[in-house]
Formats: sequence, structure tokens, C-alpha cells
Amino acid sequence: MADTAASDAFVAFERVQKSYDGETLVVKDLNLAMPKGEFLTMLGPSGSGKTTCLMMLAGFETATHGEIKLDGKPINNIPPHKRGIGMVFQNYALFPHMTVAENLSFPLEVRGMGKAEREQKVKRALEMVQMGRFGGRRPAQLSGGQQQRIALARALVFEAELVLMDEPLGALDKQLREHMQFEIKRIADDLGITVVYVTHDQTEALTMSDRVAVFEAGVIQQLAPPSELYEAPQNSFVAQFIGENNTLEGVVEEIGGNRCTVRLDSGDIIDAVPINVSQKGERTRVSIRPERVEFDPQLGDAAHTLTAEVREFIYMGDVFRTRLSVAGNDEFVVKTRNRADQKRLSPGETVRIGWLPEDCRALDAT
Ligand SMILES: Nc1ncnc2c1ncn2[C@@H]1O[C@H](COP(=O)(O)OP(=O)(O)OP(=O)(O)O)[C@@H](O)[C@H]1O
Ligand SMILES: [Mg+2]
Repeated sequence: MADTAASDAFVAFERVQKSYDGETLVVKDLNLAMPKGEFLTMLGPSGSGKTTCLMMLAGFETATHGEIKLDGKPINNIPPHKRGIGMVFQNYALFPHMTVAENLSFPLEVRGMGKAEREQKVKRALEMVQMGRFGGRRPAQLSGGQQQRIALARALVFEAELVLMDEPLGALDKQLREHMQFEIKRIADDLGITVVYVTHDQTEALTMSDRVAVFEAGVIQQLAPPSELYEAPQNSFVAQFIGENNTLEGVVEEIGGNRCTVRLDSGDIIDAVPINVSQKGERTRVSIRPERVEFDPQLGDAAHTLTAEVREFIYMGDVFRTRLSVAGNDEFVVKTRNRADQKRLSPGETVRIGWLPEDCRALDAT
């Protein structure tokens, strides 16, 4: 799926740039090809260009440069309502004076659809979001989650093959948000629709998506399935942005094939997998996930061990979270499963920790 050629993609951005003021590019040379049926999430910090990309795809903004294609055809000059795209936004704004059914029926009526057909489509859309019994209510008589479902139904009522969602769950509490994540994913899979989903919540992105595009400053930093993003981040930004991550700074001493040797600023020498470092003498930031670190390691000859001092030991139920001072980093975190044989640690204690070199990635120092 990851290497869908732009030519047979259902949605394609080709060398797309966007500037609002004619000076700064808020989207820089965006290339993205999505196959039909894919659930793709644009994830990134505030201001990184996610909504802008969605707006260009929807037709509410025009690209300054480049081309956007739907089903192989350029859509730059097609107005929004002729693109056949469903949309759900954070501020879902249902019409307050209309019933739920009228809210769904209205856009179909505007498009000239007859009453019988409208009623049938509205019924179907409401059933899809399990709101079949609520057609007669007004939006104010629904909970936040129910309103969100109606907003989703309103996007689905057109039977659009492509649905865009911009932070659709942002206004909901955690529990409802998690439930709706599951529902949206299920409906998308059942209907086989293609979804472009925008969020700045990484958990949401990881749990819902076939692929995630990590945005920063108008550039896709990495486009990959969730597991690959987490386990094989291609640069420091992605490693830091996705999941919890430990970093140790140093200089590349030797490099060759799929191993490099790094002299940490503390003087410790460790091996790592070189990801986007290429030369001896280059500064690097080495990345290790908290759950890949072991105490009193018995990982074999290839493993590294370092001495650390415990700063904090937190009981979290299923896991223990230990904060350590290691090689000059006071925020080094280790997560261990809560097993009967796992020793509880106290601040000030000295411990040995270790990991396998393949779990340690040498990334850019920027
Ligand atoms: N209509 C506009 N006119 C001028 N600048 C804009 C406009 N819309 C967005 N921008 C700017 O473009 C950049 C990208 O904004 P965009 O809304 O795409 O970010 P985003 O990734 O969706 O952020 P958020 O997570 O906060 O919603 C920002 O610097 C923003 O200030
Ligand atoms: Mg936005």
C-alpha cells in the first residue's frame, strides 16, 4: 500500500505548495498517493498545514502550485460541491432549528433529490451510525457524542467515496472519543470509503489509520503504517513526536553497514543502527524506546549496559515507569511490565540498564 504509484491512486497530491500571503509556504512540495479504501491520517503539531491540505482537497482553498487528483483526474478547477466529497469538522454545526432527519435531508434537497429517495438515504445513514431512532429530535436534545454521530451521518448521506474529517472528535471527552474512534473506523471499513483524517492526537492516529502522514512545517516528515512510524522513525522529529522516546546525544565514531559506534557526551561508547547519519564526526541523537530497556540486563554479548541512578519510580498498575539519570540525561524513562519478580526501585539507587543495539537508532541531532 505504501508505494501506490501516483498514476493509479484514488487521491493524489503532486508537488503541491500553498502560500496564503505569497511569501511563506505553509505546504511545501507535498506528494501523497492514496489507494481507494485507505484510511490515512494527517498528524502533526498546530500550524503544520494539515487543515490547509484538507481544504485544498475539499476545494475551499486552491493550491499555489502543483496538482491534486481524484480518481486520476485533476480537480483544481472543480468547485467543492461537485467533487463528491463528504466532510466532518470539529465544529460540526448542525442546524439547530431542524430535526436530525431534516439536517441530513436538507443538503440532498438542495441538490434536487426527490422526497422518497431522500427519506430512504437519510434512514440508511442514521442506521449506519446507530441513530435510527433519533431522526425526530433536534440537535440540542442530543449528547455531544450523538451530535457527532449525526455529523458523521451527514457526511455519509451523500454516499461519497471520499470523506474528509478534521479533528472530528476534538470536542468530546476521552471515553467517548475512544468509542467514536472505533465507530468511525468500523463504518469506514464496512462501507469501503476512503478517509483522510486530521488530528494532532497521536494515539488516535496510531489506532485508526492504515497509514499516517506526520506533518511538520508544511512537510511530510514520514508517511508509514503506525507500527513502522513507532518502530522505525526516520528522523528525530518523528521519534520524538510519536510515542515516548529516550535520547542520548553524542558523536558518530565509526560507521559502516547497519551499525555505527557513538561516543556519547558522557564518554560512554554505544552501538546503534545508523538511520539518518552518514559520517564519522557527525553529531547524533540516539533514540531508545522506554519498553526496550531492561534492568540488570541479560541480553547477551551484543548488548550495552550503562550505569544509571533512579530519580523516580512510579507504579502505574500494569507497568512501572522509572525515571533515571543516564549519561547526562535526567529524563531517561524505562517502562517495565508489572510482574511479581520485578523489583521496586527507590530514588538514589544505582542500577544497571541495557538494551540491544538494534533497538537503538542513531538519528539527526537537529
Ligand atoms: N486563511 C488563512 N490565511 C492565512 N494564513 C493561514 C490561513 N489558514 C491557515 N493559515 C496559516 O497556515 C499555516 C498552517 O495552518 P493549518 O490550519 O493548515 O494548520 P493545522 O496543521 O491544521 O493546525 P491545527 O492543528 O492548529 O489545526 C499556519 O501558519 C496558519 O497560520
Ligand atoms: Mg487544523
